[in-house]
Amino acid sequence: MSGWIAVAAADDLEAEDVLGVSVGGRDYALYRAPDGTLSASQGFCSHEAALLADGFVVGTAIECPRHQGRFDIRTGAALNAPACVALRMYPAKEEAGQIWLNLGDTP
Ligand code: FES
Repeated sequence: MSGWIAVAAADDLEAEDVLGVSVGGRDYALYRAPDGTLSASQGFCSHEAALLADGFVVGTAIECPRHQGRFDIRTGAALNAPACVALRMYPAKEEAGQIWLNLGDTP
């Protein structure tokens, strides 16, 4: 998988929210910060693999639904226990009414 891929309609992701998408059998989480900035990460929490799209965004953090660990949606950094390993982030952009992900050389 490489290059930019349209993964969702831009209107499907509101400010301060998360949206889960699946591409090539892998899950990703799309985020929109309160200021409208888009970002994207791996779909599962780095702690015990809960689906991050089932969590909720508070400001610029995603709170995991299982143990309430939080990650910075701009950088993927773990913000509080039990989350301690950063999320892998992916380039995301909004263009032509779509949200696009660049998965690089993700196998
Ligand atoms: S599974 Fe996400 S904090 Fe534990």
